[in-house]
Amino acid sequence: MDVYEAVTSRRAVRGFTDRHVPRDVLERVLSAAAWSPSGSNLQPWHAYVLTGGPLADLKKRADERVAAGDPWDEREYEMYPPELKSPYHERRSTFGKERYSALGVSREDWEARQRAASANWQCFGAPAALFCYIDRDLGLPQWADVGMYLQTVMLLLRAEGLHSCPQMAWSVYRKTVAEILSPPDGLILFCGMSIGFEDVTVDYIRTGRAPLDETVTFVEGGTAAVDPREQAHPLQPTGPDSGRPDDAARASGHRRLHGRT
Ligand SMILES: Cc1cc2nc3c(=O)[nH]c(=O)nc-3n(C[C@H](O)[C@H](O)[C@H](O)COP(=O)(O)O)c2cc1C
Repeated sequence: MDVYEAVTSRRAVRGFTDRHVPRDVLERVLSAAAWSPSGSNLQPWHAYVLTGGPLADLKKRADERVAAGDPWDEREYEMYPPELKSPYHERRSTFGKERYSALGVSREDWEARQRAASANWQCFGAPAALFCYIDRDLGLPQWADVGMYLQTVMLLLRAEGLHSCPQMAWSVYRKTVAEILSPPDGLILFCGMSIGFEDVTVDYIRTGRAPLDETVTFVEGGTAAVDPREQAHPLQPTGPDSGRPDDAARASGHRRLHGRT
C-alpha cells in the first residue's frame, strides 16, 4: 500500500470485528511510528496498548458509569472552544448529520444519538485500543507532535490491513481509563484509539473535505528555479536504486551530519 492509499483509505471506523490483532503487528506499527517527527525530537507521546481482559474490564467499567448516569470527569482540556465560529461550526454540524443519518438516527432523537455515541465505550467492538497521554507540562507544539504521531500510527495500521478510530471521547472517562492503566500523575490523557479489522456490515457515510482553496493558499512568485535532479526524474518514487544522491547515501548506511535545527 503506498502512502496516498494509506491516507485516503484511513477513516474513523466505527464498527470492528472481534478478530484478534496480533501483538507483533502492533509492535511493528508502534516501532515504525516512533520515527514520527517532533520538535527537538522530544517524542512527547506516551502510548498504552490495551487488549484482552484489561480492555474488556475498561469497557465494562465505562458502560457501568453510563448506566449509572455517572457524570463525566472534570475536563483536563477543552475538546472544542465553547463557540465554534464559521466555517468550523458548519463543518461540525455537517459531520453530525452524516454520522447519525448513516445509522438511521434523526437529529431530534437525542436518546438514539446518545446510544450511538456510547458505542465509543465499547471501542466500536474493537479488540485492541491505544491510549495516548502527554506530559501536562508540555505546550501546544508538543500536542501537535502527538497528533503527528497518532496519524502515523493510523497510516501504518492501514498498511497492516487494520483500521482505527481516534477517540477524544475517552478523555471524559479519563479516571476509569487511569484505573486500568495507572499512568504517572504528570500525564494527561489526550485520546484513545480503537484498533482492529473493519466490520464491513456497519453503514457509514464517508466524510468530505473542504475544497483545497478553502484551506490552502499558494503564494507563488515567478518561475521557480527547478532542481536539475527533479527535471531528470520528475516526481519519480525514490529508493535505493533511483540513483539520487540522498538515496544512495541512505542505502549505503552513510550518515549525514547536520547542524542543529
Ligand atoms: C483527535 C481526534 C479525536 C476524535 N474523537 C472521536 C471520538 O471520540 N469518537 C468518534 O467516534 N470519532 C472521533 N474522531 C473521529 C472524527 O470524527 C473523524 O476523524 C472526522 O469526522 C473525519 O472523518 P474520517 O476520520 O472518517 O475521515 C476523532 C478524530 C480525531 C482526529
